[in-house]
Amino acid sequence: MNTGPIGVFDSGVGGTSIWKEIKKLLPNENTVYLADSKNAPYGQKPQNEILQLSIKNTDLLLEKGCKLIVVACNTATTNAIDFLRKNYQVPFIGIEPAIKPAALKSNSKTIGVLATKGTLASSLFHSTSEIHANAIKIVEQEGIGLVPLIEQGKVHAAETRDLLEKFINPMLEEGIDYLVLGCTHYPYLIPVLQELLPEHVKIIDSGEAVARRTKAVLEKYDLNNLSDIRAKDQFYTNADTSILAYFLKDMRRAAELNYLDF
Ligand code: DGL
Repeated sequence: MNTGPIGVFDSGVGGTSIWKEIKKLLPNENTVYLADSKNAPYGQKPQNEILQLSIKNTDLLLEKGCKLIVVACNTATTNAIDFLRKNYQVPFIGIEPAIKPAALKSNSKTIGVLATKGTLASSLFHSTSEIHANAIKIVEQEGIGLVPLIEQGKVHAAETRDLLEKFINPMLEEGIDYLVLGCTHYPYLIPVLQELLPEHVKIIDSGEAVARRTKAVLEKYDLNNLSDIRAKDQFYTNADTSILAYFLKDMRRAAELNYLDF
């Protein structure tokens, strides 16, 4: 069982930003990644549809023998993780916008959250925001259109830059000093964002925290892979494999990329 893979899923290629953090911390673990790009973006879909897609992804990862599942998607986490935890035996790790660290560090007491409609509308996001509502102001912005552009590999395109500028300018006018990236696709936009943001505005995402949590949960349930056999990483996409390859090009060794109709 302990040599079983860690399963990771996202609405597409974005969750690879989380997968990379997990792999950095846990190089010995086997992994299976599902990019449900055919159904991206999840962010504009009704909650029940996000839940059904999350169930489908979970069932496939369990068929592949996964011992733990990382929901590497803020939209799926905020809309489906409670159900998944109640209805399946394996441990689940989710990802939510990093409001807490941003709130604690902010000097201007004003932070921006860029996330999908599905995340910003979720009750989990509302309850987390409420906890901090007295101490800080949260400026929310739906990143409509960003996920489809990233899914086409258009990270450095002028249209992506223009859209980002449109989204962050109102936040800057409100005086944010932290920008929380509440979608796992957005870390790929950090180089562009850094060009657009003034130096005093810091960017926070949740990738490292998710990796640390994954490590802690593996230890808690005694699930660490102790085998000496070199770990295997399998990636499945139900869309164009070349896009997934583009986001994995900085990997040290070739990943196993497969098309699968799921
Ligand atoms: N990576 C997903 C997230 O974290 C993107 C959501 C979408 O597909 O709209 O929210």
